[in-house]
Amino acid sequence: MENKILDFLKKKQDYISGDHIAQRLGISRQALWKHIQALKDSGYDIEAVPHLGYKLISSPDRLFPSEISRHLNTKFIGEKIYYFDSVPSTMDIAQQLSMKGAAEGTLVLAETQTKGRGRLGREWNSPKCKGIYMSLILRPQIQPGLAPMLTLLSAVSVCEAIREIAGLDIQIKWPNDIVMHSKKLGGILTELSAEMDEVRFVIIGIGLNVNNDKKALLPSAASLKDIKKEEINRIELLQEILRRLETNYLIFQKKDSQPIIEKWRDYNITLGRRIKVLYHRKHIEAEAVDIDNDGGLLIRNDSGLIQKITAGDIVHCR
Ligand code: BTN
Repeated sequence: MENKILDFLKKKQDYISGDHIAQRLGISRQALWKHIQALKDSGYDIEAVPHLGYKLISSPDRLFPSEISRHLNTKFIGEKIYYFDSVPSTMDIAQQLSMKGAAEGTLVLAETQTKGRGRLGREWNSPKCKGIYMSLILRPQIQPGLAPMLTLLSAVSVCEAIREIAGLDIQIKWPNDIVMHSKKLGGILTELSAEMDEVRFVIIGIGLNVNNDKKALLPSAASLKDIKKEEINRIELLQEILRRLETNYLIFQKKDSQPIIEKWRDYNITLGRRIKVLYHRKHIEAEAVDIDNDGGLLIRNDSGLIQKITAGDIVHCR
């Protein structure tokens, strides 16, 4: 009901009569008043003026599922949203939900994480209401070896969404770092549960620095606000990420990896570069030459030998 009341308030910039809303929703004025109080308790600033009615002054900077679902228009991604103020990690919640049979497209969101994790055992700093911290459950019918493609697909989706909402040309450092001006804005953590030849579920964890203040960031990191010099609407950005994820995922499932790899190439800053990589416990320098059909990075060492890197970290040399 609160959602429907918000629809009325958001449609009108001006005051809207309580009688009108109550009548249209088939509730009493007293019931309406109670729902308005509940909305105020959630952080909506709603002005009530006798004889004029209610007016929405501002909405809280929160990723409430009701706000995310409004005009989202996806088929299954984000159809079910679990929202938390604070959790250790959205990955753990998504794991538990997946094991209990949560549907494909189920989304776990948190305003902050106390034990947010990044790749290779790193920590993911998740300051409250500043970023996007989400885990998405997918159940793709693919061979487990193709799962890294979902990391690339997610990185592409995030870049497309940032371009659309913030107008920034973001880049991808293989495999999953979202960067701009060599500073890291976000990353993707993909966790897989699979049999020998069948994927049970994949959890796509996305962490993005959105409205973080520069001072609070590591020297190697940046936020969209820091680059754009203005606050970014996290709700609009998250909605666009979900839409792009769905579109790209459907393309990936219907066709093959190629259309996603082509998009990834457009955003990547790794191919053609000299890189340093940890390979079979040794650091080697090589040239990043191409991306394989399963998302692996093909590198050419100084003897001309081509090798495929499927995991780990790389450093751009120059
Ligand atoms: C990386 O190392 O670049 C990947 C970072 C992924 C962080 C996200 S935030 C939401 C989700 N929950 C986690 O604990 N990690 C991922």
